[in-house]
Amino acid sequence: MDLTDRPRRLRADGIRPLVSETSLSASDLIAPVFVDATTDERVPIPSMPGHERVPVSEAAARVRELQEVGVESVMVFGIPASKDPEGSGAWADDGVVQRSIGRIKAQTGAYVIADLCLCEYTSHGHCGVLEEDAQSGDTMTVKNDETLELYGKIAVSQARAGADMIAPSGMMDGQVGAIREALDSAGFEHTPIMAYAAKYASAFYGPFRDAADGAPAFGDRSHYQMDPGNRREAMREVALDVEQGADALMVKPALPYLDIVRDVREGFDHPVAAYNVSGEYAMLHAAAEKGWLDLEEAAYESLLSIKRAGADLILTYFAEDLASRL
Ligand code: PBG
Repeated sequence: MDLTDRPRRLRADGIRPLVSETSLSASDLIAPVFVDATTDERVPIPSMPGHERVPVSEAAARVRELQEVGVESVMVFGIPASKDPEGSGAWADDGVVQRSIGRIKAQTGAYVIADLCLCEYTSHGHCGVLEEDAQSGDTMTVKNDETLELYGKIAVSQARAGADMIAPSGMMDGQVGAIREALDSAGFEHTPIMAYAAKYASAFYGPFRDAADGAPAFGDRSHYQMDPGNRREAMREVALDVEQGADALMVKPALPYLDIVRDVREGFDHPVAAYNVSGEYAMLHAAAEKGWLDLEEAAYESLLSIKRAGADLILTYFAEDLASRL
């Protein structure tokens, strides 16, 4: 027996922390916050235990709770009072997100990222303006370039409300460039854009659609979100967003796409974000409820693996719980 290389030597109690390669801290985490214009009270989200839709009046209080455990960055999603085919609530100066951001910025020092999309605001639940598909004539699809104009308006209204960063999630071609141009011409050249650069058409968004009430009334999002089997295409998507001026690059979902997180980390020098989505959260809770795994440990290991894959920032519904333990 000639065992010179024994990795176990470095796994003893005192040495493990010294040789640990990856760590998590509260400053890596961004917590999603749902503000709901249809309620005066906090409403629990059944598919996402521990999360609620909060009324505008509670938005700042919710963010303060996160700050108490050390989470200083939030991503704000809105549920508007009413919806229409265009999604005009998304760029209303008195819209649910605009009013909430105003309050959060006035009452907390948190860093506020605004999710920019139309699916929560359109009556049909798609991420932009609809049209009949020009080729087939029967399937409805989202008009790309008309939608970009609306995204520009939303970005400016969110920045005017006080958003520190804009995060477009609709997966229209050219969205980062259009938003950059709209922000610059409105005097917001210092407002960064975090691109949902490689966002896949994923089954893991299920619980979010309950939370934000943005399920498509018909069809799915595979006309604009990415095909889960595509890896090289993710690099094309990311490169396009970089060319158009993206400041940070997001991969979404996170756990089923860690190879993509790693590819983006290696291919680009921009900060890489990963979105540990609603389904990734809900499935751990469901299994833990059955007693099949330990929630805290499984959550920690999940987030650690996202960091290890190469993410600098993690959007996660575990932010509050994890930060309170760190
Ligand atoms: C809106 C949007 C979605 C998510 C974030 N922004 C839903 C979707 O694209 O269907 C999902 C987030 C999550 O599941 O946690 N476009």
